[in-house]
Amino acid sequence: MAIKAENNVFSLETAHTLYQMKVDMFGVLNHLWYGAKTDCCMDYLLDYPDLGFSGNIYEAGDNRSYSLNTRPLEYGAEGVGDFRVPAISVTHEDGSTALDLRFQSYEIKRGKYKIQGLPAVYAKEDQAETLEIILKDTATETLVTLLYGVISEADVITRSVIVTNQGKTPVILNKVHSFAMDIPYGDWEWIHFHGRHVMERQAERVPLIHGIQESSSTRGTSSHQQNPTALLCEKGCTETTGFCMGMALMYSGSFQTQVQLDELEQVRMTMGIHADNFAWTLKEGESFYAPEVILSCSDEGMGELSRRFHHIIRNHVCRGQYQLSSRPVLINNWEATYFDFNEEKIEKIARQAAELGIDMMVLDDGWFGKRDSDTSGLGDWFVNEEKLRGGLNTLVEKINHMGMKFGLWFEPEMVSEDSELYRTHPDWAIRIPGRNPSRSRYQLVLDMANPEVTEYLYETISKVLRENHIEYVKWDMNRSICDWYTKTLPDSRQKEMPHRYVLGLYELLERLTGEFPHILFEGCSGGGGRFDAGMLYYCPQIWCSDDTDAHERTFIQYGTSFFYPISAVGSHVSAVPNHQTGRSTSIETRGTVAMAGSFGYELDLNILSEEEKQEVAKQIKTYKEYQPLIHNGFYYRLSNPHKENMAVWEFVSQDGKEVLVQGVVFRAKPNTLRIRIRLAGLEEGMYEVLGTGEVYTGKALMTGGILLPKVSGDDVSFEFYLKKK
Ligand code: GLA
Repeated sequence: MAIKAENNVFSLETAHTLYQMKVDMFGVLNHLWYGAKTDCCMDYLLDYPDLGFSGNIYEAGDNRSYSLNTRPLEYGAEGVGDFRVPAISVTHEDGSTALDLRFQSYEIKRGKYKIQGLPAVYAKEDQAETLEIILKDTATETLVTLLYGVISEADVITRSVIVTNQGKTPVILNKVHSFAMDIPYGDWEWIHFHGRHVMERQAERVPLIHGIQESSSTRGTSSHQQNPTALLCEKGCTETTGFCMGMALMYSGSFQTQVQLDELEQVRMTMGIHADNFAWTLKEGESFYAPEVILSCSDEGMGELSRRFHHIIRNHVCRGQYQLSSRPVLINNWEATYFDFNEEKIEKIARQAAELGIDMMVLDDGWFGKRDSDTSGLGDWFVNEEKLRGGLNTLVEKINHMGMKFGLWFEPEMVSEDSELYRTHPDWAIRIPGRNPSRSRYQLVLDMANPEVTEYLYETISKVLRENHIEYVKWDMNRSICDWYTKTLPDSRQKEMPHRYVLGLYELLERLTGEFPHILFEGCSGGGGRFDAGMLYYCPQIWCSDDTDAHERTFIQYGTSFFYPISAVGSHVSAVPNHQTGRSTSIETRGTVAMAGSFGYELDLNILSEEEKQEVAKQIKTYKEYQPLIHNGFYYRLSNPHKENMAVWEFVSQDGKEVLVQGVVFRAKPNTLRIRIRLAGLEEGMYEVLGTGEVYTGKALMTGGILLPKVSGDDVSFEFYLKKK
């Protein structure tokens, strides 16, 4: 049994980790431990300081050293003397906000729990166990069920929360975070991933300051600006040594991660739906389901932590026919044509792509409605026959005839004011009565909380997918959301809307991905603006960034790799000078960088020289050979591009016999030694470097390293393939 409940202590054991909690003498659930296995009850580390201005619960009587404000709590609530950032906050019928949560009961179940209406980690019945702990408010009938999923083999614990109102009067939820943890000891640093459009997931490692630090989004999506993932590492933790833990929220809407260093140097961390634009009314008998947080920890550094997240997301989050199978190498016309295309242009791009070995043609924005620029057409998901004379079917047939699959772009959640949809249903766009809505990229957002809207989207999109031989869908979303208001809710409950939007989105995605399991869905939001584990439940890959510049991409992909598996990272070779940065890098460098993902091209290959075309054909062949290693192998970050003059990464096959090292040296330096790189994850025994015939021991390659060829020029890529002898 992975879950044990003895003497009021709950121990959740995975292959290498232990998660422990204890119900104390007052029924308060204390967090005891998350880390390496100790074979011990860790409650001996609990301390009870008599801290000034930390009050005591009434039952403690004259005992001044029992305070909720100093306890390492499992799930801290508001208003009862714990002054740290709460995981939950409610308003009762009488206007009061206190919630005094005490243990009521628990249950251990086989298998992994599911969450109503939300994506969640799944596992076979014999791969997981579930622990449900029910806490109850001392004065009302408000119940908080803490859910724990233990996926032992993966070293993962999942967490979620259900709040239930068993009382007669309504309760308003102001904040329900999915995860909270108090860590009394340690010297911690926090890694979060910030950025902007065309520059997502820049890893930033910062010390904790006293007070609350936050990474969050209020944009209605998980956002380019922050990502709903975080690491806490002990100071000095590296890629290969030291303790760290990671949290990934499986949610695609506004989120909030809060990290607090308190007066006793304890850390509290919470994560969940952003509380600012959230409220939820629970009437008698109703429950609220919070999204899931995936947790893992490692005492062998951040690399091991990342590999655990890659494993769980690839094997227990992603779904569908393409979950584990190889992904088609695709060509996308966006950067080749933008809106300016017709069927001839697309056929020409496709023909050249087919000749070079590409598997799939993806037709991006502009094929539908009246869509010659980004000012019109969104919502009209029927083909624009002025552009694609002969219709979509004819084009798809021609592409199929060339031996390629066909894929199509949609931006389902959006509407242009200049569209048939908007003219017919102006009230389907999100806007607050009496106010002008904010426009972004000229477009408005559809009210995904309105079932009429999601039904329309289901009908129109599924019609296109049913009537044409489409094998891939790019699901885009190109703005942040504000002006929250839905006519489907009474005015007093409008703060439910942001979450109801996400529920509507997930329902539609579930319906479409369920009905078209053979279609590869790729998520997108202006590149990687909605790159989260929630979307990965529906789309096994996500367009990583609208920045296709190979140099910049090494930073974006470095940050993305901390949590998300390499197969999830859509990455393409594009034209030079690069459209986002104006930088020119060689076709080799662009190929090497794009290969660390689900690979494709984003340019008109007809513009390339003959040598470049040959290089493209070679890249496609190489990628197809390496794809199983890249997607199923263990991933190692061998450098930190923010600190070093290079980005280097490595894939090691699960049996340790094959190794692929790839990288880019940013700037050439004169008069210097060749660069040495230490490999990781190798076994004992001999490895041969393919092409050079050099043979070294795994130990030598990991401790001594290997020398790169002499670097000449900037942003020069390299690649080694090693095989165990
Ligand atoms: C977003 C996507 C791009 C492209 C355009 C089309 O920016 O990230 O890849 O699809 O939209 O408008």
